[in-house]
Amino acid sequence: MTTTSNPTRDQLRQMWSGVAGAWATHVEYVDARGRRLSDRMLELTRPVPGERVLELACGTGGPGLDAAPLVEPGGEVVVSDFAPEMTAVAAGRAQSAGLANVTARVIDLEQIDEPDGSFDVVLCREGLMLVPDPERGAREIRRVLRPGGRVAISVWGPRERNPWLGVVFDAVAEQLGAPMPPPGKPHPFSLSGAGRLAAVLRDAGLACVEVAELSVPYRAASVDEWWERTVALAGPLAARLAALPPEAARALHRHAAERIAAYSTPAGLDIPGVCLVAGAVSPEAAAR
Ligand SMILES: C[S@@+](CC[C@H](N)C(=O)[O-])C[C@H]1O[C@@H](n2cnc3c(N)ncnc32)[C@H](O)[C@@H]1O
Repeated sequence: MTTTSNPTRDQLRQMWSGVAGAWATHVEYVDARGRRLSDRMLELTRPVPGERVLELACGTGGPGLDAAPLVEPGGEVVVSDFAPEMTAVAAGRAQSAGLANVTARVIDLEQIDEPDGSFDVVLCREGLMLVPDPERGAREIRRVLRPGGRVAISVWGPRERNPWLGVVFDAVAEQLGAPMPPPGKPHPFSLSGAGRLAAVLRDAGLACVEVAELSVPYRAASVDEWWERTVALAGPLAARLAALPPEAARALHRHAAERIAAYSTPAGLDIPGVCLVAGAVSPEAAAR
């Protein structure tokens, strides 16, 4: 794999590598919460037998694993992430599920180490907004797409409509007396602004770009479960919280827990969440 020596990128990779174990622990929750997104992404891209599918920023393996049976016989899926610890989990899951046509690779989505025009379908669930240069990532996606190729990308919607994470960011910002996420750093809501995701994909040369909202609520048995899971999975956030003095960490937890309790129901927490799901095609496909 070719990579730049940009220290920010290396730090980001280390942060995500550091939470890969937590993603493996919480894989059932990740799968359940991502289910509607994956289904929608496969509806948009419709992989068929014989095709090649690339999943970027796959984490423990998302829609790429679901696509594997759809491209049989003769097709294959590459699940990829820039954190080798994540691809190892995805590879293990593919093997356990008997998906012989899945390969796992370490790939940075901003510099995809694959030839031009080599995939029929590219999928990226909750990854593009986390890279320093999403425009570059989108151009790379366009580059590896074959004529006739299809793309589906999902990202988190606006922070105020995702209190399951927004509440934690608010509490961290109050505790540190500084904006959270820090300005200039990639973050979960960086592509949530009106028209932003569509513009990034269109500017990369993709065609027929359509973006729609999908409700992705966060359910948890208790406030404690929500807190532990959210902090464990949120790569950059996990590192910031771990660096706090114990008293500050306890105060932050208390403030966040008080706010999230507003979403309590008799069955546990039911917190709103909204994603944006984009579908697009290669310009050659649009011209047909
Ligand atoms: C929020 S997780 C989403 C994981 C998975 N797609 C899912 O929906 O369950 C973000 C993932 O993006 C990966 N990631 C972040 N920056 C990346 C980059 N530049 N290239 C490839 N993967 C990246 C992280 O390692 C992490 O696995």
